[in-house]
Amino acid sequence: MTDKDSSSRRRFRGLPPGPTPLPFIGNMLQVDVKELITSLRTLSKSYGPMYTFYLGSRPCVVLSGYQVLKEALIDRADEFSGRGDFPAVQMWSKGNGIVYGTGERWRQLRRFAISTFKNFGMGKRSMEERIKEEAQFLVAEFHKTQGKPFDPTFFLSCAGSNIICTLVFGDRFEYTDKKFLNLLDLINSNWKLMSSTWGQLLFTFPKILRHVPGPHRQIYKNYLKLAEFVRERIEMNQQTLDPNAPRDFIDCFLIKLQQDKNNPSTHFNEDTMLKTTVNLFFAGTETVSSTLRYGLRILMRHPEVEEKLHEEIDRVIGANRSPCMEDRSQMPYTDAVIHEIQRYADIVPMGVPHTVTRDIQFRGYHLPKDLNIIPLLCTSQFDPTQFKNPNSFDPTHFLDKQGKFKKTDAFMAFSAGKRVCLGEGLAVMELFIFLTTILQNFKLKPLMNPQDIDITPESTGLGSIPRPYQFCLIPR
Ligand code: HEM
Repeated sequence: MTDKDSSSRRRFRGLPPGPTPLPFIGNMLQVDVKELITSLRTLSKSYGPMYTFYLGSRPCVVLSGYQVLKEALIDRADEFSGRGDFPAVQMWSKGNGIVYGTGERWRQLRRFAISTFKNFGMGKRSMEERIKEEAQFLVAEFHKTQGKPFDPTFFLSCAGSNIICTLVFGDRFEYTDKKFLNLLDLINSNWKLMSSTWGQLLFTFPKILRHVPGPHRQIYKNYLKLAEFVRERIEMNQQTLDPNAPRDFIDCFLIKLQQDKNNPSTHFNEDTMLKTTVNLFFAGTETVSSTLRYGLRILMRHPEVEEKLHEEIDRVIGANRSPCMEDRSQMPYTDAVIHEIQRYADIVPMGVPHTVTRDIQFRGYHLPKDLNIIPLLCTSQFDPTQFKNPNSFDPTHFLDKQGKFKKTDAFMAFSAGKRVCLGEGLAVMELFIFLTTILQNFKLKPLMNPQDIDITPESTGLGSIPRPYQFCLIPR
């Protein structure tokens, strides 16, 4: 045994029990790598809500079920707020940028991004107006399909992406803009690759997989292309910047770089700006559009739910004005359906790995600083102690006996605690306004019998990917 091995053993001595690892390959023989999340959930049945699992030679603590996730992410939020290894992106991000950063740099970036977004109207009327406007562009595009079958993927990506693009680049793009569509394709491909078997293999064996040919290598190349586009946009902003009138997130970042240029300990530099902007563009694009794409498929499987949504929309909003956020308080059924879509679609099932920020005692175990934590968010979203019918799509999970909307903390689609999704407020507005506007204008027509529609995901890794489909939208 080398000195390094023995000090690492000492460091990890107090970890919770888990399946016995083998040298180099860790616990890989105890899981089906193609179904990593299912395997991790199954292991929690034997080892409990908190167990140690070795990804190769890296120990991780897996948290499973609402109770332990709450105790870690919410009750001990600061200590669990580090960012863990995410090998699919690590090669490109190198731990920089808002999503993959950690420590003081992350804290400052997060504070900066939140205050900049607020200044540009996030959570305010002006952002709501932008989303309402985009929803009308989306409906106009949908009308062009003239009731014929089509795949909604890129329409929904354009709509979702245009909201984050307005904040980050100060602009929206046309749905026919080839360059924009190409970028959306890069984001969509990366999301799918990270959720594929190759993505899961990469997550498990990063050191080996980096040297093995395969589709997973495209993830890095796609990130480089996205970064190239962002670099061009940063240059455009630089040439036209007016420090007294920032137009978007990039302008604000450029101004911050100027302000901090003589501060040697600043965390704001060009690489951080590039990576954070790519992070925001990516996170703000694929998540909302995947949820809508999944949601529309679920509604086709449950026409009785779609019918009730139409009824509520017609009663509260009518046909002559656009839906707005104020309507939501009078639309408990719609609110419940959107929450249930997010719970059931569970588009980020294992969250993004965290770390503990210092040595801590947790549930009687010693967790050393920087230990990787896998918060299996899906185990809260499908926790049978929290939802009466966890494996079925059932909007009454979010309704009380009087039919009023019922909030529950076990809903963790956006995660929880200090690293909770930074775009939650924005995403909630987008989901409500986009979905109600679509259903105000159209009825969904599947190409097969509703009961034959498979609403299980096509693959599950970083993301849960809905099966590809076509459908028709019939104007109402
Ligand atoms: C339905 C839509 C969305 C879902 C389900 C979702 C979900 C998530 C989840 C699960 C995380 C990981 C949190 C953790 O580490 O514990 C996350 C992080 C993040 N999300 Fe979202 N997200 C959505 C939309 C958005 C949007 C629209 C934006 C745009 C601003 C965004 C920006 C981010 C950022 C920047 C982070 C990293 C936060 C950090 O590390 O501090 N997300 N999101």
